[in-house]
Amino acid sequence: MSKKILEVKHLQKCFGEKEILKNVSFSIQEGEVLVLLGPSGSGKSTLLRTLNGLESIQKGEIYFQGELLKGEEKQWQAIRQKIAMVFQNYELFPNLTVMENLLLSPTKVQKREKTTVEKQAKVLLERIGLGEKLKSYPRELSGGQKQRVAIVRALVMEPTMILFDEVTASLDPEMVREVLEMIQDLAKERKTMMVVTHEIDFARRVADRVIFMEEGEIISDYTAQEFFEEQKNERITRFLNSLTH
Ligand SMILES: Nc1ncnc2c1ncn2[C@@H]1O[C@H](COP(=O)(O)OP(=O)(O)OP(=O)(O)O)[C@@H](O)[C@H]1O
Ligand SMILES: [Mg+2]
Repeated sequence: MSKKILEVKHLQKCFGEKEILKNVSFSIQEGEVLVLLGPSGSGKSTLLRTLNGLESIQKGEIYFQGELLKGEEKQWQAIRQKIAMVFQNYELFPNLTVMENLLLSPTKVQKREKTTVEKQAKVLLERIGLGEKLKSYPRELSGGQKQRVAIVRALVMEPTMILFDEVTASLDPEMVREVLEMIQDLAKERKTMMVVTHEIDFARRVADRVIFMEEGEIISDYTAQEFFEEQKNERITRFLNSLTH
């Protein structure tokens, strides 16, 4: 039987008076790829951000590997080592080389041996064809290359789970594919991931399960097969059509 990595129960998030996440409950199993879909403003980014403490919550519980997250900063710091997040805008440090960017958290925060991390980072970069770029600065890379380095930066932390928030949204079309292929390879390796994307063909290829959100609520939580092939929800069908046409 597979193991539950993350469980969210009755989560509520407000910004001021406005309820942004309403009674959100779901869980994710080890090795599962959970794709989060929904219209703009439905709360997808906010939800991801609550999962590693970038947003506080008003109600509900988050359990990570069976442990209740109590919202203390110290616990979040530890959790962020295990739940990595990759954003739309690869926030690489511009004054550091690719390798320096990759070494920063593993050596400074995780206190791991520099040479070990360096070797690991090199292997990961070579695998995606960026072995030559170790000493380059972010400004010397294309958007797609920067985003792939940002993903490697998450991977060298050896996280238990990775959250991807529309990581291809600000890329030129010709660079989207290389980034999506990298995430697809991670899916094949059974990395536990939550992926927010508007790339629907990609979602079909990687998803084990699909959660559909609207106005801060989870409208449906289906297997990929059910979501893409079987369900007849009119709202979801309209959403899918809006992405493919
Ligand atoms: N810091 C904030 N303060 C106030 N309201 C916010 C804040 N961040 C997000 N919101 C609101 O919360 C709602 C959900 O936003 P969120 O960014 O999570 O949506 P999303 O589903 O990720 O949308 P998109 O697909 O456009 O990225 C929106 O109505 C947004 O205006
Ligand atoms: Mg968003």
